[in-house]
This record gives sequence, C-alpha cells and structure tokens, in this order.
Amino acid sequence: MTNKYMYFIANWKMFGGLNSLNSLHKVNKFLKTSKKKSTKIIYCPPSTLIRPMSKKLKKSSIEVGAQNCHEHETYGAFTGSINSLMLKNVGAKYVIIGHSENRQAGETDKLINLKIKSALKSGLKVIFCIGETFKQKRKRRTKQVLNKQIKLGLNKINNYKKILIAYEPVWSIGTGLIPKSNELFQTINSIKKIKRNFKVLYGGSVNPKNINELKSINNIDGFLIGGASQDPNKFIDIIKKTYN
Ligand code: PGA
Repeated sequence: MTNKYMYFIANWKMFGGLNSLNSLHKVNKFLKTSKKKSTKIIYCPPSTLIRPMSKKLKKSSIEVGAQNCHEHETYGAFTGSINSLMLKNVGAKYVIIGHSENRQAGETDKLINLKIKSALKSGLKVIFCIGETFKQKRKRRTKQVLNKQIKLGLNKINNYKKILIAYEPVWSIGTGLIPKSNELFQTINSIKKIKRNFKVLYGGSVNPKNINELKSINNIDGFLIGGASQDPNKFIDIIKKTYN
C-alpha cells in the first residue's frame, strides 16, 4: 500500500490507430472514480495520435507525451523528423528520450543530450531512459553504465525538476524478466544518490502479475509500461494493485 505520488506512463511504441483512442475512455472513467490525487497518468502514443489524443483528453487529468524528438530546435531540412516544438504545438507535455530501442538503433549519449536540451527549451518535460544490457549486468557494470548515461545525457543541464528518469534494464524490456527486488532497490538508490531530487521510474515487463512485487520497492516513483499499457484493463489493474 502506498500513498506516494506515482507516475504511470504508457509507452505505446509503434502500435495503435485512431480506434485505439476508444480505450482511453475506460482509463479516464477509472481515474475519476478512484479519486486518487496521487496518480499521474501519461500516455505516449505514436506521433500520429498525439493531436487526436490530446483533444480527447482535454478535460481529463491524463496527459500526453511523445516517444522521441529530433534534436534540432527549429524547422529544418530533416526528412521524416519531428522536433520538440512541433510535438508541444500538437499537445504533448512530455517526451521520452534515450529509450534503449533508439539507443540500439544508433542514438548516442551526445545526441540524447542535445535532444533533452531542445525538449526542455520547447517547454516539454523529459522522460529520460537509461539502462544496462544483460552483458553489462553480468560483468557487474550496471552502476558504471548508468552513471555514464546520466552524466553524458544530462551534461550542462540543471533543470532536473522537468526530468523523470526511467530506469529500464535492456534485458527486461519485453522479455517478462524483471530485476530482483533488492537489486532494483539498490540501483534506484544509486541513481538517486547522484541527485537527491531525481524522480526515478522503473520500466521493463511491468504487468499485473509482477506489480505486487515491484510496488513493494519503496524508492520507485512510478512505472513506464510498454506492452501492458495497450490493454486498458491491464493498465488499470497495474494502477489499482499499486495502491492496494
Ligand atoms: P515493456 O516495455 O513493458 O513492454 O517491457 C517497456 C518500455 O520499453 O518502455
């Protein structure tokens, strides 16, 4: 049971069309009846759905975020790209930056740093993802890897209040595996030691079955949820169980 302010962020990845917006109704209704002031729900759909989703959620306390942005702050000749200001202008309040799926596709710490700076400048809050691979974990390099990602990703940035850290071990995303509770507690603690006021979320295979175990780790400030967030029943179940 927790009374803490908790974030529940839905990362829809490259899933969802206009029909998927119907599922928001259920979550909205649940949120109204639960009257939990300590719950913050943020949906990060594909960019094509940001505008219609924010319109649909106009009267709701659920907020909308994007899943990535280009680092360039103004308009430019970058075919296929969208910058943070464009996302803000269609209703996004947050943006996920540094997700391991993008790091694996070649996104460097330096690029992530530029993206975070541009997002903050545009007035977006940032969900900054960090995480170690299984190989790095096996070599006991988790702390070192995370420290480096934070140091380089947040280089010359002081606006920590606008940044949520999402700790997502790469080996746990979409695999059904989660870290052992004591390991996760220690990792989150070591991230919070870098800056005391960091809010740190956990992400990677969060689902209605493992949420009881995850919620007992009392230094977690919320969850970044991929697969399970596409099903409103599972998403609601995760939120309910976090508080029970
Ligand atoms: P998952 O994804 O919950 O499907 O593991 C989490 C994420 O990639 O943000």
